[in-house]
Amino acid sequence: MNALEIRGLSKSYGKGKQALSDVSLNIAEGSFFALLGPNGAGKSTLINILADIVHHESGSIHLLGRDLFKERGWCKRRLGVVPQEVAFDPFFSPREILRFSSGMFGVAPDEDWIEELLIRLELKAHAEKNTRQLSGGMRRRLLVAQALVHRPRVVVLDEPTAGVDVELRKRLWVFMQELNAAGTTVLLTTHYLEEAEELCDQVAIIDRGKLLMHRPMQALLADAAARLLRLKYNQPLTLNAEQLGALSRWRPRIDACSIDLAIPSNQTASSFHTVYTAAIETLGVPVDVAIVQEDLEDIFLRLTGDAHAGSL
Ligand SMILES: Nc1ncnc2c1ncn2[C@@H]1O[C@H](COP(=O)(O)OP(=O)(O)OP(=O)(O)O)[C@@H](O)[C@H]1O
Ligand SMILES: [Mg+2]
Repeated sequence: MNALEIRGLSKSYGKGKQALSDVSLNIAEGSFFALLGPNGAGKSTLINILADIVHHESGSIHLLGRDLFKERGWCKRRLGVVPQEVAFDPFFSPREILRFSSGMFGVAPDEDWIEELLIRLELKAHAEKNTRQLSGGMRRRLLVAQALVHRPRVVVLDEPTAGVDVELRKRLWVFMQELNAAGTTVLLTTHYLEEAEELCDQVAIIDRGKLLMHRPMQALLADAAARLLRLKYNQPLTLNAEQLGALSRWRPRIDACSIDLAIPSNQTASSFHTVYTAAIETLGVPVDVAIVQEDLEDIFLRLTGDAHAGSL
C-alpha cells in the first residue's frame, strides 16, 4: 500500500505565484523518502498542505488509502508532521507540550513514550524549562518529538535537521532509521544532500512547483555512473570569465586542484573527446584524468539547473 498517494496537487498563493503545479507522487509504505528541491521549490507548501496549515487548490491526497481531505480525523492520528517554522507557546515546558499534543491527536499521553522521546531527542535536561529558554536546535528537536508523540505510521519532516549541530544530527538520523526499520514511513526534506544520499531509499526532486523526477536512490545513482570528467592539476584553479564561459556548457564544478565537467547524457566516445579537448585547450594539460560517478548533489544541480535553463 502507499503511505501517501498525491494526485494532481496544485496550489498558488495569489496571482502568478504557482507554488505547486499538478504534482503527483506515490510514497510507498515503509520507505525513507527524500523530497528535495532548491529554496522556493514548493516543498514546504506540499508539507503544509499535509499538515492542514495551507489549503490546496486542486488535486487529491490519500494517506494509507484514505482521503486526507475528507477523513482528516482518521488521517491525523496516523500522520506526524514537523513543519519548517517553529511556533510554541513559550509558557509551557517541552514535557507539557508533548502531553497536550497527545490530546490534540486524540490519544491519552503515553508517559513512557514521552520520556523516551525526550531522551532520544536529547531534550531530557530541558524537559521542564519554558520553551522560550530553548535554543533553535532544541526547538527543532522538540518539534520532531511533537510529531512522534502519537506514534504515527507516517512521519513527514520539513528540514528536521536545519540548525541542529552535526553530532545531534547524526543521532537524530539513527533514531529516524530505527523508527523506519520498525515500519514507520518517513518523508523528509533537507538541503543536506549527502545525508539524503546515505539515508533515503527513494528520492524525488521538485523545482518551481513541478516534480522533476522520482526514483529509487540506488537506481538513480547507478544510472548516473560515469557522467563526470575529472581533471586534476598540480595547482589550485582560478578561472577567468573567458575560461568559465568556454566551459560553462559542461557545468564546471571546481575544487581545490580539480575540475569536474559533466559529459553530455548521450555518452559516446566522441562526447568524452569533445569535453576533454575543450578542457585542455582552455586550462592546459592536467596531471590526471578520470571519469567519476555523479553523486546526489551533482544530479540535483544538473536537474534543477536544466529546469532553470529551460525556463529562461
Ligand atoms: N504564504 C505565502 N504567501 C505567498 N507566497 C508564498 C507563501 N508561502 C510560500 N510562498 C511561495 O511559494 C513558493 C514555494 O515556497 P515553499 O516555502 O513551499 O518552498 P520550499 O521548497 O519549502 O523552499 P525552502 O527550501 O526555502 O524552504 C515560493 O515561491 C514562495 O515564495
Ligand atoms: Mg521550505
